[in-house]
Amino acid sequence: MKAIQAIRGMKDIPPAETPVWRRLEDAARDVLAGYGYHELRPPIVEKTELFRRSVGEGTDIVEKEMYTFADRNGESLTLRPECTASCVRAAIEHSWLRGRGQRLWHIGPMFRYEKPQKGRYRQFHQLDVEALGFPGPDIDAELILLGARLWGRLGLQGLRLEINSLGSREIQQAYRSRLVEYLSSHAEELDEDSQRRLGTNPLRVLDSKNPRLRGMLEAAPQIIDHLDDQSRGHFEQLQAMLSASGIGFRVNPRLVRGLDYYTGTVFEWITDDLGAQGAVCGGGRYDGLVEEIGGPPTPATGFAVGLERVVALMQIGEAPSDPGGPHAYLLAVGEAAERAAHSLAEQLRDALPGLRLIVDAGPGNFKRKMKSADRSQAELALILGEDEMRDQRISCKSMRDTGSQQTVVRSELIETLAERINVGA
Ligand code: HAM
Repeated sequence: MKAIQAIRGMKDIPPAETPVWRRLEDAARDVLAGYGYHELRPPIVEKTELFRRSVGEGTDIVEKEMYTFADRNGESLTLRPECTASCVRAAIEHSWLRGRGQRLWHIGPMFRYEKPQKGRYRQFHQLDVEALGFPGPDIDAELILLGARLWGRLGLQGLRLEINSLGSREIQQAYRSRLVEYLSSHAEELDEDSQRRLGTNPLRVLDSKNPRLRGMLEAAPQIIDHLDDQSRGHFEQLQAMLSASGIGFRVNPRLVRGLDYYTGTVFEWITDDLGAQGAVCGGGRYDGLVEEIGGPPTPATGFAVGLERVVALMQIGEAPSDPGGPHAYLLAVGEAAERAAHSLAEQLRDALPGLRLIVDAGPGNFKRKMKSADRSQAELALILGEDEMRDQRISCKSMRDTGSQQTVVRSELIETLAERINVGA
């Protein structure tokens, strides 16, 4: 029968890779706790309306990348393409925003029907960090410092920080008309994608990677030149705070981001080591979103890290990590021994926390079982045969170097194991 394969753009993370993922997740949890952020676990599926209202109708995500379906009741639901909207929805729903700031984070899968390629998948994972209820540039700076600390903890170098300010909604509206005017006067130079964006989301034309458009886009009006005093002041204070904290950055006036909810500060961390998919983290301020989703007026800011991309960076020049083989492999031969094996194994696990012990499973003779013990790469084989059952003993055979074997009285087995293997490793 034809084997069924995983869905295109959705990949398994095999056991050989999970240790690096865990290292990343553990470092993130640690760093986030150090800044007073709390974990939120929202559902993976939300009402489609949530993303239409937040991410925005004119975005690529809402226009063509969402996994949307009707449930059995006919309600339109969507696998979340990002997590900011869910965090905001949860904070409103549980009334977490009454006069208090909220620092939240979440790690989990997101779904976008994009063209799969290296570093771009249809199911991918994000670390999402959101700070709700804080208006000042100090919290934007905190988020950037938190990101920088995470890169440091992971030993990642060469990540560049780019920042920009998109101003308030009013500024964006006024700027959009100027930009449309400019782009329309260069309409014949625009490629097909940019022509489409000109009609739906003109700011995104600035994001085009087409080298043919570079000169024309460089001469386009820039939003940063149209900021009001409040937005400019906020952006300048942020830059001063970053400089005071020793964080290097570049102001990129063409950084616009792909989601509609941003106002004011936006930023991305970028690497040159991953080819085209160089943005490992992106975020910014979204002061209007809470209200747009039905909550009280609440300033907010946040970012999301693309975990597949960070894992790829962590793996550059790093030998595949050893997932940690078992300390011992228990094999029982004969009916009575097979019946006793699990209870003996449970006693050992109770007595030696951290012990990695495999109990042989399945039929077969002693030879097959020893072969399995060997393949498991365990340090020790614990052999429970008919003789051992009769004498209340167990044989311990070293599976490395000498292959030495000793027979131990059952009551002394825990002590012997504690001496022979390093359970903490
Ligand atoms: P985003 O820029 O769409 O922002 O995604 C953030 C990061 O997720 C990207 O920089 C990238 O590393 C990763 N990413 C995005 N799409 C894919 C994909 N198809 N495959 C692999 N990695 C991907 C957001 O999602 C916003 N919610 C961030 C935010 C939080 N803004 C404020 N708060």
